[in-house]
Amino acid sequence: MSYIIAPSILSADLRNFEDQVKQAIDSGADWLHVDVMDGSFVPNITFGPKMVTTIRKITSMPVDVHLMIVKPERHIQAFVEAGANYITVHYETCPHIQRTLTSIRELGATPSIVINPGTPVSILRELVHDFDMVLLMTVNPGFGGQTFLPGMVDKIQRMKSLLDKTGSKAMIQLDGGIDSTNIKTCYQAGARNFVAGSAVFGHKDGIAAGIKALRDALE
Ligand code: DX5
Ligand code: ZN
Repeated sequence: MSYIIAPSILSADLRNFEDQVKQAIDSGADWLHVDVMDGSFVPNITFGPKMVTTIRKITSMPVDVHLMIVKPERHIQAFVEAGANYITVHYETCPHIQRTLTSIRELGATPSIVINPGTPVSILRELVHDFDMVLLMTVNPGFGGQTFLPGMVDKIQRMKSLLDKTGSKAMIQLDGGIDSTNIKTCYQAGARNFVAGSAVFGHKDGIAAGIKALRDALE
């Protein structure tokens, strides 16, 4: 079984950031997920490129940057230069999304697109060869710790069938409310990359137990 667990550092305890990241890596995290929020596209405000620079001083592990910001094209280069491997942009923020995805690749990162729960899979039909990963939000973006929207399971299946039909090898990533109770169902629907904030950094028995619970649930 092949899949990726990407702990979201949004839920890390910033008092002990380096230690938290190292614990996640030592416990088997595959990637690190960085949530960038601007207080405009989403209500919350979080990190800038400097956070990626900081992570790069700790690890060379793949970092995916989820840009929940208006006019993301203004900031892509800075995140790539800081060391981001994957850059994910919201369909809802990009009037010229094909151009934005192409520029991510030209700048040397892997292009990824994300859609909100209310945005239909069908809009991705025209873009399917422009991204290597598609993130389906399984909560409305803006905060960690929200509840997984169960209606998204059907959406994952529709996404998978669009990718299969068009010959795309893009990976389906999920973000929001992923935990040990729903991860297997999502895998069976076609997702292979799981962002998890609360289920990893907020696990009552610690980070290692959080990652193990997700992996055990997938076995
Ligand atoms: C939500 C963020 C998520 C968040 C997930 O807007 O994009 O990445 O950190 O947190 P959990 O896993 O707690 O829902
Ligand atoms: Zn995210």
